[in-house]
Amino acid sequence: MTTSVISDESAPAAPRPAPLLRVENLRTTIHTARGDLRAVDGVSLTLARGEMLGVVGESGSGKSVLGRTVMGLHRTGPTMTVSGLVEFDGQDVHAMSPRALRSMWGSDVGMVFQDPMTALNPVKRVGTHLTETLHAHRGLGRAAARGRAVELLDLVGIPDPARRITQYPHELSGGMRQRVVIAMALANDPKLLIADEPTTALDVTVQRQILDLLERLQRELGTAVILISHNLGVVAGRADRVAVMYGGRIAETAHAADLFVSPRHPYTEALLSAIPRLDDPPHARLRAIDGAPPDMVHPPAGCRFAPRCAYVHDDCTRELPVLASGRAGDESGHLAACFHPVANANRGER
Ligand SMILES: Nc1ncnc2c1ncn2[C@@H]1O[C@H](COP(=O)(O)OP(=O)(O)O)[C@@H](O)[C@H]1O
Ligand SMILES: [Mg+2]
Repeated sequence: MTTSVISDESAPAAPRPAPLLRVENLRTTIHTARGDLRAVDGVSLTLARGEMLGVVGESGSGKSVLGRTVMGLHRTGPTMTVSGLVEFDGQDVHAMSPRALRSMWGSDVGMVFQDPMTALNPVKRVGTHLTETLHAHRGLGRAAARGRAVELLDLVGIPDPARRITQYPHELSGGMRQRVVIAMALANDPKLLIADEPTTALDVTVQRQILDLLERLQRELGTAVILISHNLGVVAGRADRVAVMYGGRIAETAHAADLFVSPRHPYTEALLSAIPRLDDPPHARLRAIDGAPPDMVHPPAGCRFAPRCAYVHDDCTRELPVLASGRAGDESGHLAACFHPVANANRGER
């Protein structure tokens, strides 16, 4: 006798929407005079449409090389070897022709870097920067491009935009210049904005304004954002998800709230304790993590963080831990590359 199948059980699960960006086992090895430097050493991640991912880690951990490899700015050539997969909106970025890549940059993907002056030409007016990218990617005529340029400056919170477009970059403050760069990056409604230390060169008040702006644009325009920073505090309260990089690898990734409340990787825990706190006495010395980042030409055996880890065990120096949830049935996407994740009991007792 057979039992009939209950219809609910046979209903197929709703398919998950394809991510905007899929990175699998990405490696960028730079050929240096000292030997091969593993700047990015096996990174996998996904980014959903409209999502903000914060990528954090100390200087030299591979954040910028990761960002540039994802964009296809770093490709296999005489100075480096790239392997693994980068799929953007269904396209294999490293299989694209140089021409297709150029059309992707500045239209589907916008970029904002640390120093706005590197993106701005000192002898061109603010408006020209915007109208040129609008001509190039959209074929807008003069008047339409000018109208859109004013609109874009208004969008990024630049007062009196009709006057500003006639000015030169040096006539603007650092914060206003970075707003212009963000306007350029957004000119063609990109699906993804990569912001690499966009506020590191700015003072604290302006830094906050620019970060608020990025967050507002992500929400209002639905643009996915990768926000790269050496400062975990910069992505706190803004990113939907965070990936912590150490020695070219992702040490831990989770929804932002999970990462901040219950870090699993000792490196994340150390980074969190290095964020200045409101209850610190004034002029307290900034806490730093003891020890130096790994030499990625000769990385340490096993876990890259083992030589600096407060909880190091024997197995940590023998084998390289992979990113895993470590908890059966945990579907939260909270992953850590650690054999001995920080236990809840450890927290609050530093
Ligand atoms: N063009 C290059 N030539 C040699 N080494 C490089 C180059 N670019 C980056 N590196 C090295 O790659 C590693 C990662 O660098 P980077 O991605 O810039 O770090 P981060 O952005 O996290 O500070 C560092 O060790 C850096 O010195
Ligand atoms: Mg960098």
